[in-house]
Amino acid sequence: MEIRDPLQTPPPCSRAQYRDDLALPSFPIETPCFVILETAVLHNLEKTAKAAGGIRRLMPHIKTHRAQWLVELLVREGVTAFKAATPAEMQMAAAGGAQHLVWAYPTVNTAAISRVADIARRHPNVQFEALVDAKRGFRAWRDELERQPASNIKLRVDLDPGLGRTGVPLNHEALELAHAMMVEGLFSGWHCYDGHIKGANRPERVKDIERLIEEVRSLLSQARRKGLPAGLIAGGSYSFDVWPADVAQWVAPGSWTYSSAQHQADLSNLGWRVGAYVLATVLSTRQGTATLDAGTKAISPDIPLKERFQGPGPIRMMKEEHVVIETDELDIGQQVALVPRHTCTAAYLYNRALVQCVDGSWEFRGQLGAER
Ligand SMILES: Cc1ncc(COP(=O)(O)O)c(C=O)c1O
Repeated sequence: MEIRDPLQTPPPCSRAQYRDDLALPSFPIETPCFVILETAVLHNLEKTAKAAGGIRRLMPHIKTHRAQWLVELLVREGVTAFKAATPAEMQMAAAGGAQHLVWAYPTVNTAAISRVADIARRHPNVQFEALVDAKRGFRAWRDELERQPASNIKLRVDLDPGLGRTGVPLNHEALELAHAMMVEGLFSGWHCYDGHIKGANRPERVKDIERLIEEVRSLLSQARRKGLPAGLIAGGSYSFDVWPADVAQWVAPGSWTYSSAQHQADLSNLGWRVGAYVLATVLSTRQGTATLDAGTKAISPDIPLKERFQGPGPIRMMKEEHVVIETDELDIGQQVALVPRHTCTAAYLYNRALVQCVDGSWEFRGQLGAER
């Protein structure tokens, strides 16, 4: 067995990286660290806008990055509308210059509703929308707006396209709820997130999405006949490029921003690049394994342990602050990029990120982290 001198620390990146397309900082940096490559994000925006049929049809979900500087960047590039998951994201996007903001979370929690309504009142020039999937949620919004009106807030009906998470079925129930909201002057359209349609097989995926599109098209025709607006927000990263503009006015992918190890395997046709990773340092090596300082508190805890990231070898074990990787290729002190399988749940673990700017310089920029 090779004995390594622990006092002879090699400089970071002294050996060939397993992915040489990802820029690594060449100066000392505390790890684990969330790293964003701004050029890759801009590249992904260009690809996504093109696949969406134009930047004006894009309504990016900001839950992926939770970063005001990225909202500002997207606004500068021509994005006008955003989706958000939490009140803090709504506040951040409004402050970042969004013109149209959808709270894509049909809550009945009156405290959260009041908080978002207050944000809307503080930004009267921003068009706010929220989702409703039951009479209970509609009543919560109506009561809040009766208590303190805000003419820039409208409500959409959330449809369940088979994801089985939130949303009303695509039938008379949806039409009845929309009608009740319309009578009160609060209905503005529809929302449909098809996150259950995934996988690397594009032709199969397209078939499933097209089946759903026809179902939604039929519901919206019925809505039109009843005098209800038929504007729809649909799709995520696996489907947005399939939804036609005559059915979905907006498409709302989110995780395209940084892409992910999963996207790189499943969605290569979209041409996205890895736009973010977790930088980790090799702390210890033994025959066949290396231990890095990126444990369960550093990267994508929602994903099955062995699949949390693409790195320099298979994941053998993870603890809160450590991950053990099967490899003989790493030296103590070396820094490596771990590409999350689900980058949204890596980004939120950090309240700042090290950004490689378009001009190649590096700087830290803030993000919401786990704040809700
Ligand atoms: C309601 C909603 N819309 C849009 C998205 C973005 O989808 P994706 O992550 O596939 O880009 C998500 C992601 O979870 C979501 O929950």
